[in-house]
Amino acid sequence: MEIRRVGVAGCGLMGSGIAEVAAKAGFDVVVREIDEGALEAGRARVVKSLDRAVGKGKLDPAARDETLSRFTFTTSLDDFADRDRVIEAIVESLDVKNELFGYLDGVCPPETIFASNTSSLTVTDMAAATSRPARFVGLHFFNPVPVMKLVEVVRTIVTSRETFDAARAFARRVGKVPIAARDNSGFVVNLLLVPYMLDAIRQLERGVATVEDIDTAMTLGCGYPMGPFTLCDFVGLDTLCQVAEIMYGEYREERYAPPPLLKRLVTMGRYGRKTGAGFYDWTPEGPVALKV
Ligand code: CAA
Ligand code: NAD
Repeated sequence: MEIRRVGVAGCGLMGSGIAEVAAKAGFDVVVREIDEGALEAGRARVVKSLDRAVGKGKLDPAARDETLSRFTFTTSLDDFADRDRVIEAIVESLDVKNELFGYLDGVCPPETIFASNTSSLTVTDMAAATSRPARFVGLHFFNPVPVMKLVEVVRTIVTSRETFDAARAFARRVGKVPIAARDNSGFVVNLLLVPYMLDAIRQLERGVATVEDIDTAMTLGCGYPMGPFTLCDFVGLDTLCQVAEIMYGEYREERYAPPPLLKRLVTMGRYGRKTGAGFYDWTPEGPVALKV
């Protein structure tokens, strides 16, 4: 089946990027958010990212306008009725995701492939709640989506060969490099990356060094593009905390348990860059590190 019409649920950090790369690759894209405010914020995120590419000379203004013309922004899930594929990138909660997929199961034709961009839930837990487990797959993109080349394509024990192959082909069509991952919580990257980020927070709690010095250590000492606290703020502390809870629930291993400091920051609404503060205050003059 040729896939031309894509639906993206959620237009936050990840959904906006997934929708952008799909529209750039020529797909017709419908993006759904929960209300007009979130929809407008999502649309602004897409426009900002495309403008950034134009500013850097990587995209000409006509291509930006053409890309934007492939978008439809909506708050209605019923607008996914004609989609060939739906990619979900909403909050990391099984209940919220399953409510969404349950509704979409009744809206979309049986041929529509469902994909989740979950970081830590198992695809099986979502697929089993629909009437199309064979046409359900994981498509795990990385942040920032327009830049990061990897997509983990996740096959459950019942995902059909056609669905898996179509998902890999889609990842390539949007300019990414797919790898195949088993449907275990955290797939490949987050199994390794999440404990690293959580460990950095634990070292901070123990007073090993400051936020800035730990970040400087890992960038200058190891050549990482960002230190762990900059990365935590970039991923979103609310998302990271949810991911840690889910992985801890799955494996019951301490290295996945969310450290108390992470939970306190989330309680205070310090979600990272998306709310203007996390381990850093993201001021117009530059980041100012939290003193712990
Ligand atoms: N949107 C679009 N493009 C962006 C961007 C964004 N948000 N941020 C940066 N870019 C582009 C820039 O246009 C630039 O491209 P050119 O060099 O071709 O001009 C390029 O990325 C580099 O940007 P900058 O020079 O401004 O900044 P940088 O050199 O510091 O790189 C970075 C930025 C690519 C984000 C880099 O810091 C990096 O790779 N950080 C690590 C990101 C990472 O680890 N992501 C994975 C997160 S975990 C995850 O995604 C999984 C999960 O489930 C939680
Ligand atoms: P985010 O908080 O930036 O965006 C989530 C968006 O989903 C919000 O705009 C919210 O309004 C919207 N939303 C909530 N319920 C919705 C619904 N029923 N329908 C449509 N929209 C709804 O979060 P994010 O960072 O974009 O994460 C989204 C998903 O991608 C999560 O599953 C997360 O684990 C995963 N993910 C995140 C990253 C990352 O680095 N942040 C990387 C890879 C995967």
